[in-house]
Amino acid sequence: MEKLLTAAMANLLIKRLFVFCLFFSAFLNCKTAASQVSTSVLPSTKVKLAQHAAVVTAHPLASKAGLEILKKGGNAFDAAITTQLVLAVVYPGAGNLGGGGFMIAHQKDGKNLCLDFREVAPEKAFKNMYLDSNENPIPGLSQDGHLACGVPGTISGIFKILKYARLPFKDLIEPAIKYAQNGFALTSDQADDLNELKNDFLKNNHNPVAFVKDNPWKEGDILVQPELAATLNRIKENRLAGFYQGLTAQYIVEEMKNGNGIISYDDLKNYEARDRIPMEFDYKLNHIVTMPLPSSGGIILKQLLKMTAYKNMSSMGFQTPECMQLIIEAERCAYADRAFFLGDPDFVKVPIQTLTSESYLQSRINNYEPHKAGNSNDTKAGVINESEETTHISIIDDEGNAVAITTTLNDSYGSKTVVSKAGFILNNEMDDFSIKPGVPNLYGVTGNKANAIEPRKKMLSSMTPTIVLKDNKPVIVVGTPGGSTIPTNVFQTITSLIDFKMSPEDAVNLPKFHFQWLPDVVYFEPDFPIEKKIHLVEMGYSVRDRGYMGRTELIKIDYQKGKIITAIADKRGDDDAAGF
Ligand code: GLY
Repeated sequence: MEKLLTAAMANLLIKRLFVFCLFFSAFLNCKTAASQVSTSVLPSTKVKLAQHAAVVTAHPLASKAGLEILKKGGNAFDAAITTQLVLAVVYPGAGNLGGGGFMIAHQKDGKNLCLDFREVAPEKAFKNMYLDSNENPIPGLSQDGHLACGVPGTISGIFKILKYARLPFKDLIEPAIKYAQNGFALTSDQADDLNELKNDFLKNNHNPVAFVKDNPWKEGDILVQPELAATLNRIKENRLAGFYQGLTAQYIVEEMKNGNGIISYDDLKNYEARDRIPMEFDYKLNHIVTMPLPSSGGIILKQLLKMTAYKNMSSMGFQTPECMQLIIEAERCAYADRAFFLGDPDFVKVPIQTLTSESYLQSRINNYEPHKAGNSNDTKAGVINESEETTHISIIDDEGNAVAITTTLNDSYGSKTVVSKAGFILNNEMDDFSIKPGVPNLYGVTGNKANAIEPRKKMLSSMTPTIVLKDNKPVIVVGTPGGSTIPTNVFQTITSLIDFKMSPEDAVNLPKFHFQWLPDVVYFEPDFPIEKKIHLVEMGYSVRDRGYMGRTELIKIDYQKGKIITAIADKRGDDDAAGF
């Protein structure tokens, strides 16, 4: 009897254990599925303290995917590939397959890397392609639709980064495929953007696109992108050829024919991301590693840091009238140089040594009169566009690798042209060329011969992914979107940390200002203290309020008490900091 009872109880126990296991495995499956599909908007984390690794991006799902890769044993390069691909799905306004960008990285062995996957002008591009027969710019032609697109560089960039990564590529691309296939929940800002751009999408696309639906989008709506998922699957299977050749290339070339586009099969097949030598220089016991040409960002950053250090800015106090005037006058010099001298170094000779030499910069910054506004002396003032296109990723891993990537479609949602059947948006980067000397682009910056359009030439950029080293270890990983405001934004973040000893949170979030030679106007973010603006007006500066500039993604690493990583995601958007 006792034996029978024991057997019956054992039987019951086994049954219960079985039922429990079934429930537990269903629970686990649910959790796995939930981590693959996002059916509700993930809240963003703005400040994350970590000991091992961190990733900061413009979207919580991208940061989460990057973090999962780091926890799985991937390094900063693995995480960079995954976050970039996930951003192309969940942050389609700027994350991209159809755009380009730059990477600055520091490897754990102490080597600094620089990768240029900027778009290039198609072979059929020519100098006056956006001008009418009287050589006047045709409104919108360099900004909207098919003719505005440069040859995309992002996928070529990703496969160059893969050299430094550790995990199999199929694992790195999988999260992006899942979000494209199964969908993700739109944030409130994304829903608003898509509603605002509905007519642009309808105008620039012949076939239905995933971004347009009959009823207005709202927060929490699920955006599913099956055509994009198919493109990502082709890249997963065929790698570079999955984008630059075969079906995807065919769809891009066919899309060009739907409009007035000129990107050809050869343009795509011939595209190759380039390793470059990073721009490096010392700044107050730190070593700055940043982006050289074809970005103007590194040169401007170096010019601003050197000119303001020469005038001993840190002794002036943060945003005092004296300090702000110094920054504005340094920016006047730097952006005037940008307009006249800077362009793709493969096509034009740029006097970089002189432009960044101590003697040149000292003579330039000695020329302004204290308490009196300078004058940019030009009539062709442009209007600064407030688009927060472009996006930045900052990553640090546990081994000491750091990655800063800024990538872009140029304007928000680029040319608003979606490659039919391939589901991704093409850039409108051609507008970053100077379409005619003195004519301002989307960001109000003007240019000259150095940045004129030529086939296969790269358009000048402002993107400034930057890593600051101390004793050859990364202490700051930083970057931001914001077009021409990028270099001044990165400059303000770095000097807030180094010169004004500000907390990382304040360095990112306190209101910033911007000046770029032309238009001869100082721009202020919302909530910039009024009394500071009044001081500038009293000196004779023109001032104007504008929307937010940039979204800075900052990682600061402190080695004094062990390793403390502070990851800050900009408060200005859905940006998110993750780490462990
Ligand atoms: N498209 C903005 C930049 O590259 O600066």
